[in-house]
Amino acid sequence: MFDAEAFVNEEVKRIRDTIRGKAIIACSGGVDSTVAAALVSKAIGDRLLTVYVDNGFMRKGETREVEDLFKRVGMNYLLVDASDDFFSAMIGIIDPEEKRKIIGNQFIRIFEREAKKYGASYLVQGTIAPDWIESGDGTRGKIKTHHNVGGIPDDMDLELIEPLRDLYKDEVRMIARYLGVEVAERQPFPGPALAVRIIGEVNRESVAIVREACAIVEEEMERAAKAGTMILPWQYFAVLLPSHTVGVRDSARAYGRTIAVRAVESIDGMDAAYSKIPHEILDRISTRITDELNDSINRVVYDITNKPPATIEYE
Ligand code: XMP
Repeated sequence: MFDAEAFVNEEVKRIRDTIRGKAIIACSGGVDSTVAAALVSKAIGDRLLTVYVDNGFMRKGETREVEDLFKRVGMNYLLVDASDDFFSAMIGIIDPEEKRKIIGNQFIRIFEREAKKYGASYLVQGTIAPDWIESGDGTRGKIKTHHNVGGIPDDMDLELIEPLRDLYKDEVRMIARYLGVEVAERQPFPGPALAVRIIGEVNRESVAIVREACAIVEEEMERAAKAGTMILPWQYFAVLLPSHTVGVRDSARAYGRTIAVRAVESIDGMDAAYSKIPHEILDRISTRITDELNDSINRVVYDITNKPPATIEYE
């Protein structure tokens, strides 16, 4: 059984011994990066600067919630709005690996800039075991370049600290609970954010669609779970597909796009089974998505694939 208290005590000591000057961390407010930030700030206090980069691909209301969380935890933080840069970098990019690499690189460049301003010589990352195992550790084949692995440029001039590198998600959640960080029960969210939930080009319009669809999936499933109609899945979200299909709107032909709803059960993200969601909940989600996004979406499908052979995210 994993001992969160022993892990924290040992890591705090190791981090104190390792980090001599100042450090910087990219924190998206997700479980991994927030736990890494809380752990390192426990070790070195205000010598850690927590940087939140708004890439424009975050979920509905997320930036405000994350800022509130940083304030509550008492972190030394900085908010950078870089959405214009990220949207420009995404023009014409379709390939999933290219997307991930570009987004990762942009992030690191921004951190390097902020790190220089702050005088940091260490970069802390919330990388966990599935991130590097699935990015290809030399023994297993590469599945996809996880954001916090593939985006690091060779010429990065900061020393990398990854305190959660050998842990799995359930263990990170135990640490979050132990540290009293309120993100412990949040569902996992990929580093490249909504950009990998848009198959095809990422632009302001496609992000707005998938952001709203994700919010509907979250609201409806959380409402149903609260009412006891279903158990909240391990992860649940929407994906915007690139294909157009024929539909009917106001008795006229409509040529619209498709949203795929994905919900899975998993322990550590390495394997997953699709969630058996009651049909009446899927029905409500479908109706809301096609009503509230009726300018663009005329079809909703539910993904019934396990991992493997699929992955949890689509890119
Ligand atoms: P996949 O899609 O590979 O995802 O089955 C496994 C778990 O990892 C999350 N995920 C990521 N997490 N950076 C992360 O920190 C990433 O680039 C990334 N891509 C996927 C995914 O949401 C799932 O929980």
